[in-house]
Amino acid sequence: MTIERTLSIIKPDGVQKNLIGEVYRRFEQAGLKVIAARMLHLSTAQAEAFYAVHRERPFYRDLVNYMTTGPVIAQVLEGENAIEAHRRIMGATDPKKADPGTIRRDFAASIEENVVHGSDAAETARQEISFFFAQADICPRTR
Ligand code: CMP
Repeated sequence: MTIERTLSIIKPDGVQKNLIGEVYRRFEQAGLKVIAARMLHLSTAQAEAFYAVHRERPFYRDLVNYMTTGPVIAQVLEGENAIEAHRRIMGATDPKKADPGTIRRDFAASIEENVVHGSDAAETARQEISFFFAQADICPRTR
């Protein structure tokens, strides 16, 4: 049993569609625990830095623009195999390829406006968590 932490974002379209509760319900139903959360409206510089790994991709500028159109909610999820569990709940990046019952299949409008983001590996999770949260912001469950 590996207890992991992962970084999750409800993107501007997810917040706009009032899906915060629905997304959290799916996380909690799967046994993932929210141990840190914050709402913020990303600046262009923040979105550019967060997605720097995609800087050379043709969709980078549109992605940065979209991520700054409205507030997002970032959270740290903790649980058994949290990185993979979270990715399963989200579904494939492209909602057309996402399995039925996943967040993206159920709610995403397109590959760009795909409601949620999740870290793809352990090292990325560490980096992405520290992008949004200081150590003191993280509240491991004590009960
Ligand atoms: P995310 O998991 O946040 O990681 C990068 C994001 O880029 C992705 O979700 C999509 O929102 C966005 N994106 C836009 N176009 C593409 C594409 N062709 N391939 C992958 N990601 C894309």
